[in-house]
Amino acid sequence: MIAYKIREGIYWVGAIDWHLRLFHGYSTDKGTTYNAYLILDEKITLIDNVKAEFTEELIARISSVIDPSKIEVIISNHGEPDHSGSLPKILELAPNAKVYCSSPNGVKILNAIYGDIPIIPVKTNDTLSIGKRTLQFIQAPMVHWPDNMVTYIPEEKILFSNDIYGQHYATAKLFDSGNDLATIIHEAKKYYANIVLPYTKQANKYNDLIKDFDIEMIATAHGVIWKDNLKEILALYDDLLNSRKKEKAIVVYDSMWGNTDVMARNIMEAFMEKGIEVRLYNINNTEDSDIITEIVDAKYLAVGSSTLNNNMLPKIAGFLYYLKGLAPVDLQYIAFGSYGWGGQSIKQISDFLDGIGYKPLIEPVKMLYNPTTDGLTSLKQAIFLALDQQK
Ligand SMILES: [Fe+2]
Ligand SMILES: [Fe+2]
Repeated sequence: MIAYKIREGIYWVGAIDWHLRLFHGYSTDKGTTYNAYLILDEKITLIDNVKAEFTEELIARISSVIDPSKIEVIISNHGEPDHSGSLPKILELAPNAKVYCSSPNGVKILNAIYGDIPIIPVKTNDTLSIGKRTLQFIQAPMVHWPDNMVTYIPEEKILFSNDIYGQHYATAKLFDSGNDLATIIHEAKKYYANIVLPYTKQANKYNDLIKDFDIEMIATAHGVIWKDNLKEILALYDDLLNSRKKEKAIVVYDSMWGNTDVMARNIMEAFMEKGIEVRLYNINNTEDSDIITEIVDAKYLAVGSSTLNNNMLPKIAGFLYYLKGLAPVDLQYIAFGSYGWGGQSIKQISDFLDGIGYKPLIEPVKMLYNPTTDGLTSLKQAIFLALDQQK
C-alpha cells in the first residue's frame, strides 16, 4: 500500500473501509474512508489518524514515502476513535512526535481514551510553523464532538476539515471529480443529516469563522477530497446550515393488516395532487438514516402506525427516537393509523411529535379497521384545506 500525492509534499495516507455497514445507528451502505494526510516539510506532520483496525494500512502508506519515526507533529482534529484509533501505535513508532489538539476538550478526550500522551493544546487562530507551511487551527466544537477543530494551511489554501463536509463513502478515487457528483453530494447530505444535524447552531458558528478563508481544497476525514466541486459542497452546506426547506412531504408508516398502508398512500396522494414533492416509506423497507436524509429539507412529515398491544409498532417507535435525537427543525406533521380496539398509537405519535416541537398540519387521524371511501376522502380534504390555508 502506498501514499497518494494530493499536492507537492502532501499525501493521502488514510484507509478505505469497504465493508462498514453500520456506524452507530447510521446505515453506511457504501462503506467509508478514514482519511489521514502526511505533510513532508521541515517538521514531518501527520494530520489525523485512522480507526484502530486500519493502523497497518496507515503505517504502510506512510512508510512508502518516509520512515514513520521522523513524524514530529500529529494533528488530532477530532478524538473520536475513527480518527484517533491508530494514535498509540504511531506514537510508539514516532517517539519525538507531539499531538496537537483543541483545548480543553481535545485534551480531555485524548487523555480519557489514550492516557498520558504528549499533547500540545491549541485554540482558534493559534498557528504552528512546520517549515514552508503554517498550520492554522480553528475550533469547531460540536461539529461533531466538543473537541472538533479544523486545520488550515494558508500557503496551500487547503482546509483539513475532519468530519465536516465528509461522506461515509468508500472510494478508490480520492478526489470529488473521480466520482459521480450526485452520489457524493447525496452522501454528504446523508452525513450531515445523521451526524451534524443536531449541532447546526454550532456548525453555523464554525462557518462564520471560516467563511472568508481562501480555500482551493477541502481535505475531509471521510469520503472524497473536494477540489473541483467546492461550489457544490459549500452550497449544500449553506442550505443545510440555514435549514432551507422545500415544498416536500415524507410519509413514514408501519401497518399490520394493510389498513394504515391504505391511509399512508392516500396521504401521499393528497400531497401529490397538490403538486408537492412526496416520498412514501414503509419503515420495514428503508433505513432510518435514509429517511432522515429526505426529511432534513422537507416541510411536512406524516407518521402512521397501527396499534399493537396498546402501543405503536416498535419500528415506528425506533424511528421516532432516532428522529428526536437528530431533531430536524420546522416540521408540520400528520399522525395517523388504523386500529381495532384502543387505537392508542395515533395519540402516542402526535404526543411524541408535539414533544419535539413540531406543529400538526391536521388533527391526528384514526380509522377503525378498514378505511372507508368517505373516511379517506375527508382525510384528503383536510390535507387540501390545511395546505390551502398556508398560501
Ligand atoms: Fe466524529
Ligand atoms: Fe468521523
